[in-house]
Order: sequence, then structure tokens, then C-alpha cells
Amino acid sequence: MDGNGRWAQQRGLPRLAGHEQGSKSIRQCVEACMESGVEFLTLYAFSSENWKRPELEVRGLMLLLERFLNEKVEEMLKEGVRLRAIGRLDDLPNACRKKLDEVIAATAGNSRLHVILALSYSGRGEIEDAVRSIARDAASGSLAPADITPDLISSRLYTAGIPDPDLLIRTSGEMRISNFLLWQLSYTEIHVTKKLWPDFTKSDFADALAEFAVRHRRFGGV
Ligand code: IPE
Ligand code: MG
Repeated sequence: MDGNGRWAQQRGLPRLAGHEQGSKSIRQCVEACMESGVEFLTLYAFSSENWKRPELEVRGLMLLLERFLNEKVEEMLKEGVRLRAIGRLDDLPNACRKKLDEVIAATAGNSRLHVILALSYSGRGEIEDAVRSIARDAASGSLAPADITPDLISSRLYTAGIPDPDLLIRTSGEMRISNFLLWQLSYTEIHVTKKLWPDFTKSDFADALAEFAVRHRRFGGV
């Protein structure tokens, strides 16, 4: 979800105004998913690296997250959205974490659309945590090195049980992965759009899906 800062800068507004506007694009994508039958939507909302931003911006983003959760929980319940989160969630401020846990618990029975928020997330950090959990079991003797398979590794990631993404959409024209789902993106199709995240609409999402639909995926085969 990139380009909030540039969107604000183009209008002479503070960066937080860009984040605020960006949060509205989520609704657009959720609607597009519902209409096209997409069952899993993962939003890279805040990376481990984003903690390096000025304190005011970080605090504003956390408040925005809390407000977003407060305002959207009713809609999520009504529309069958299940909220989940991946990342080092213990890093989040207490109030945010509490709200997040509340909404995750409240929507746990839903299954129409899984919305997965990546918060304090980094792909390398996720792999690091998975390797540590595997090493612990290996050291205690409950896991043999021969048992370490791709499926076992997937099951130790934050995304355990969630299918690998079919499509990655990156806004604002940047051609990089930025530490997102490094293991899971192995065979994901990539769609890069120059649109800034706050300008990204339901019809942009539909365009990305239409483009995806005509790709030929071979998964290394012929
Ligand atoms: C949003 O866009 C990403 C978040 C961390 C919420 P940016 O804040 O990275 O926007 P640009 O890259 O400065 O335009
Ligand atoms: Mg950016």
C-alpha cells in the first residue's frame, strides 16, 4: 500500500493526510474481492522497517489503525469478513493490540473473505521466527532434520494455513518486494501500477485481476 506520502505531498498536505486517504482504498479492494470471489486479501499496512519513521507519523498510523478497527468491525461482521494479522504483533502499542485481538476474535467465525493485516511485518523476520521455532524442536529432539520440508516450513510461518498469494499488487510504481512475504511469493504473479495507494480504486483492482486472468502460470514447468 505504497504512495500515501507522495499523494499528500502533491497536495501540500501532511503525510498523515495521505495515510488517512489511503485507508479508504481498503474498502475499495474489499468490495472488489467480494464481487470477484477472492477469498484472501493481505494488506502490507506497516512494516518492521516503518518503526524508523518520525515518531509523529508512527503514532498517527497506530491511531489510524485503532480507529479503522473501531469503525469497521460492524461492517466486517455484517459482510462475513474475517480479520487476521501477521507480523510481530507484540511490538504494537497496547491499545492497538487489544483492539486488534478483539476484532480478530469477534470475526473468527467468518469465512467469506479473509483480510490479513501485515503489521510490524517483515519477510526476513518471519523466516527468522520460523527457523527459531524449528531449531528449538530440533534441539529438543522432537523434530529430525529430515522432517524439515517446504510444507513444514510453511506451517511455521505467520501465514500457516493461509494459501500462498496468486497475485501481488504493488502501487506507486516501485519495482521491489520490500521484505514482503518472501517465502510465500515464490510463484506469485506481480502487478505493478503507477497509481498511488490513495488513488487506487475498485476498478483498478478489477483491472489487475483481469490482467492476472490472462497470465500463463507454469510453476517452473512447460
Ligand atoms: C504508505 O505509503 C505505506 C505505509 C507505511 C503506511 P508511504 O508512506 O510509504 O508513501 P510514500 O512512499 O512516502 O509516497
Ligand atoms: Mg513508500
